[in-house]
Amino acid sequence: MRSCPQRRLLTLGFPSVSRTLGGRSSAVLVQRGYASSVWSHVPKGPEDPILGVTLAFNKDTSPKKMNLGVGAYRDDNNKPYILPTVRQATSDLQKRLDEGKEDHEYLGIVGDPSFNKAAIKLALGENSQHIIDKKVVTVQALSGTGALRIAGDFLNRFYTHNKQIFVPTPTWANHIPLFTDAGLEVKYYRYYDKAANGLDWKGLIDDINSAPNKSIILLHACAHNPTGQDPKLDHGDPEKDAAAVRYFVEQGHNIVLCQSFAKNFGLYGQRIGAVSFLTSTPEEAINVESQLKILVRPMYSNPPKQGAKIVSAILNNSELATEWRKEVKGMADRIITMRDRLVHGLKEAGSTRDWTHITDQIGMFCFSGLSPEQVDRLANEFHIYMTKNGRISMAGVTSHNVDYLAKAIHEVTKQ
Ligand SMILES: Cc1ncc(COP(=O)(O)O)c(C=O)c1O
Repeated sequence: MRSCPQRRLLTLGFPSVSRTLGGRSSAVLVQRGYASSVWSHVPKGPEDPILGVTLAFNKDTSPKKMNLGVGAYRDDNNKPYILPTVRQATSDLQKRLDEGKEDHEYLGIVGDPSFNKAAIKLALGENSQHIIDKKVVTVQALSGTGALRIAGDFLNRFYTHNKQIFVPTPTWANHIPLFTDAGLEVKYYRYYDKAANGLDWKGLIDDINSAPNKSIILLHACAHNPTGQDPKLDHGDPEKDAAAVRYFVEQGHNIVLCQSFAKNFGLYGQRIGAVSFLTSTPEEAINVESQLKILVRPMYSNPPKQGAKIVSAILNNSELATEWRKEVKGMADRIITMRDRLVHGLKEAGSTRDWTHITDQIGMFCFSGLSPEQVDRLANEFHIYMTKNGRISMAGVTSHNVDYLAKAIHEVTKQ
C-alpha cells in the first residue's frame, strides 16, 4: 500500500502478487476513512435498451417466445451458428497450439498484422491504390464497437476542424453514448421516412449539405441498423457490401473505416474488428499509426488474439475464403427467405397493409414500422420480443415460427 501525499483521502493499493499462482492483480483505489457506503450516491442506471429485450425474453416461460431483439444470426432451428470455415480454422489453430507452433503470447498494440492486412483488403479490394501506396493504416479493434471508439477518441484528439459528428436518424443506439463519451458532439441527419417506410433521400442530402464544412459524417457502410435501408447505386456491383466504402475512397475522401467481424464470421464474443484511417501520404499513415498506438496502449494495451488468427487464416487462404463467401451468402439467403415468408404470412393472415419494405430492406434487421404500443402488445400477448422502435432481428425468425410471427403482427396492426 502506498499513500498519496497530496490527497490524503486517496490510497492507491497494489494487491500483493498471488503467492500460489504468481498472477498479478490490477490496482485498486480505496478511500481512507470509509469502510463501506462509498458508492451510496451512485444511482441505478437503466438497462441497455437492446440487451434489456433479452432480459425480458429470458424471464418469459412460454414455449412460444421469440427473441427478435439482439442482432446475432441463428440457424433455422434458432441455434447460434458456427460457420464451417470458422470451425475449421479454430481446429487448425488448436492443432498448431498443441504442436507448439502457436502460443498465447501478447499481440502487439496494433494487433495481428496479417489480420489487419486481410481486413482492409476485404473492404478496399485486392488492388486498392491506398494499400499499394501505403496510404492507409489499420489497427485491430475490439469488434465494431471498439473500432468506433478508437475512431471517436482519435477524432476528438486530432480532428481540429470541429467536434461535431452527424449520425443518421435513427441509428444504432450505442453510437450516441459512444461518441459522446469520446468527447464529440452528436448531431443528426435525416435518414428514414417513417411514413413511407423508406429512405428519406431528400432529407439526407439537405441535412448533409447544411452541416458545417468539414463536419464528421457517420455513414453505415451497408445494411443500415436499424432500418435495413441503404442508398442504392444505379448499377449493381459484385462486391455490393464494399461498394459504398470504395465509392467514397474513389471520390477522394480520407475515410475512417470501422469494421466488425462479429456478424459476417459469427465471431460475436471474440470481439474482432478493425479501424482504418486512409491518409494522403505514407508519412501521414506512419504518424497516424504512432498516435493510434499511444491511444490504444493505456486503454486495453493490445487486442485479443484468437479471433484475429481465425479471420486471418480464412481470408488469407483462397479455398477457405471462397467457402466463407458461400457461407455468408447462405446466412443472407436464409434471412431473405424469411423476409419473403413473413410478407406472405401477413397476407395469408388477412393483412391488407403494404409490407413491401420488409423485402426491400437488407441485412439482419427489419424496421417493421410497428409502434411502441404494438411492440408492447407483441410481448405481452404473443411472447414476441423486439426493440421499442419496431426493429425485428430477422435472424431470430425461422421456418418454424414465421407464421406465428405473421399472425401476431397482423393481430396488433389490423384496424
Ligand atoms: C451499426 C453498428 N455498429 C456497430 C455494431 C457493433 O457490433 P460489434 O461491436 O459486436 O461488432 C453494431 C452491432 O449491431 C452495429 O449494428
